[in-house]
Amino acid sequence: MARIKIKSPKEIELIRDAGALAAETLIRAGELCKPGISTLEIDHFVGEYTEKHGGISACLGYRGYPKNCCISLNEVVCHGIPGSGTILKEGDIVNIDITTILAGYHGDTSAMFSVGRISKEAQELIDVAKECLETGIEAAGKPGAKYLDIGGAIQGLAEEYGYSVVEDYCGHGIGRGFHEEPLILHFRNRELKALIEPGHVFTIEPMINIGRASTKTLSDGWTAITKDGSLSAQWEHTIVRTKDGIDILTLAR
Ligand code: MF3
Ligand code: CO
Ligand code: CO
Repeated sequence: MARIKIKSPKEIELIRDAGALAAETLIRAGELCKPGISTLEIDHFVGEYTEKHGGISACLGYRGYPKNCCISLNEVVCHGIPGSGTILKEGDIVNIDITTILAGYHGDTSAMFSVGRISKEAQELIDVAKECLETGIEAAGKPGAKYLDIGGAIQGLAEEYGYSVVEDYCGHGIGRGFHEEPLILHFRNRELKALIEPGHVFTIEPMINIGRASTKTLSDGWTAITKDGSLSAQWEHTIVRTKDGIDILTLAR
């Protein structure tokens, strides 16, 4: 694995500022998840709120991505493109993924929202996916933790529920760049032997499926869905390893 940058305390505070704005935008975007709204309307809110607070939506124009954020419904695993024809309806589960640039630094976070009443099955998936993020963070904060401990912890928990962990998309280092070294795998692996060192800043963002792990990309070149059509859920935080644990950088203030 290539060298992983150690961020200075000053850089970490700048990432925390960007992360807080991303998190605050995400909470407000989530409040819009009601039956009848289009995902494009939510995306417009994200763009406007971000700009109004001095930020830039990192997704817009990133490798040609056309919108401010990603909004992924039901069987969409990630990178759902907001559109006027995608209208939320009762029972939908929605991931909104927001990455904000502030003063040159990125903060990246996502969460699940439900539209009206959802099935018990969907609620359990959402809850377990959140626990998967939390257990990954906890593993990363243990003394002497290695990057491979994150995926081990996440897959271990997902399997207890008979869920699968998506392998086609990963977490990533983050800072001045949107996607930096290292790569974060959310599944059990023997590759990521590097130690997680104080000052390493990265995301954990497991995508958990009720059915199989395989995904496919739609013809728009972005939208990833489960191959078997099963529901998928994802949560994401940007975090920093400290001397004795983990500090979450994408918390609203
Ligand atoms: N925010 C996503 C991530 O967690 C990346 C989205 S890239 C985009 O890494 F271009 F689709 F927006
Ligand atoms: Co990310
Ligand atoms: Co993200």
